[in-house]
Amino acid sequence: MQSTKSHIDEQSMITPALVARLGRGAQEVIDEVKLREKRAQLALVLELARQRFERHADTSETVARLAADLHDLRISSGAGVWKHLIPVAQAHPVSQFLLQDPFTKWSFEKPRGYSGDAGLLDIIYKHPAAAEVVAAASSLGSEIFAYTVEATTSVAARERREILAKEVDAASAHAEKAEVLAVACGYLREAELSESFQSGRLGRWVALDQDAESVDVVARANPGTSILPMVGNVSGLMRRSYDLGTFDLVYASGLYDYLPYAVAVRLTQRLIEMLKPGGAYLFANYSQEIRTDGYMETFMDWPLLLRSEADMWQIVNAAVDRNRVDVDVFYGENRNIVYTRIRRKSA
Ligand SMILES: C[S@@+](CC[C@H](N)C(=O)[O-])C[C@H]1O[C@@H](n2cnc3c(N)ncnc32)[C@H](O)[C@@H]1O
Repeated sequence: MQSTKSHIDEQSMITPALVARLGRGAQEVIDEVKLREKRAQLALVLELARQRFERHADTSETVARLAADLHDLRISSGAGVWKHLIPVAQAHPVSQFLLQDPFTKWSFEKPRGYSGDAGLLDIIYKHPAAAEVVAAASSLGSEIFAYTVEATTSVAARERREILAKEVDAASAHAEKAEVLAVACGYLREAELSESFQSGRLGRWVALDQDAESVDVVARANPGTSILPMVGNVSGLMRRSYDLGTFDLVYASGLYDYLPYAVAVRLTQRLIEMLKPGGAYLFANYSQEIRTDGYMETFMDWPLLLRSEADMWQIVNAAVDRNRVDVDVFYGENRNIVYTRIRRKSA
């Protein structure tokens, strides 16, 4: 097993600064010639998008081209150079157009002070709770939104919500009064899609998140149900600070995208300990195959730690004795999200 020592504060809020400090390219020595070349390419890409917006060219094509160009630049720059291009893009006048998109704006401005909050997920989920924010957009903003909300990463997030609900229903089919733990639950919107929850068949569904405001939304939306909202965090879970017992299903969605390897391994170890025999742990991660990465990291200021199937296996192999579990690593339909399910053997 690999070392799982980490010096990061796992309680830290997810911010681009934290991800930049820990993520790819953090230690890379910069090639100044390459930086100049890539900065010039970026300037052309941004200027082209700005001109297209000004002459009212087809909006969805403008954003699609921009996103594709930023993806290519991110890949061809290498992590160290790309890190220096992000603030250049963010300061460019084209952002005035892009920030009219309610999705881009919410992500960039971070009303909760961190990236990927549950309010942002509501926008991606096209949830009625986000309807007002979406409706308030300018007409250009609505056109940009029509593109961003249908981007492959958004489609994959909506599928993920469905997969989570199905996983809960499968746990309920497997065990009477199944007990479920959602780590980093946000607004737990998958509960609205879970048939076993809606029909009252679940034993308990502990919904844990570090954001008290989100936990409060979960509590107010689900009074008197099996859902038990709880303020808690990854650090507390790893230190065994909560007396939660064991579960038929534990899952984490929208969390590993922010966890460096060592923390991902330690959290996985800990959550597997919380499974009943036959219980399953499912975690999801945006994959290295996404193509919106450049746009997300610049105009949305939303960096993610992307993982491949091999990266998921690396976490599994470091976290757990493979003789005691069955493991399944699989992609969602458009391969933008990769999932890992670890099932504890019954005997
Ligand atoms: C992208 S949202 C995902 C929400 C939900 N699981 C979903 O799939 O829609 C990420 C969530 O992780 C929570 N989070 C981030 N860091 C955390 C930590 N260290 N401990 C607990 N929750 C955390 C945030 O508060 C946020 O609600």
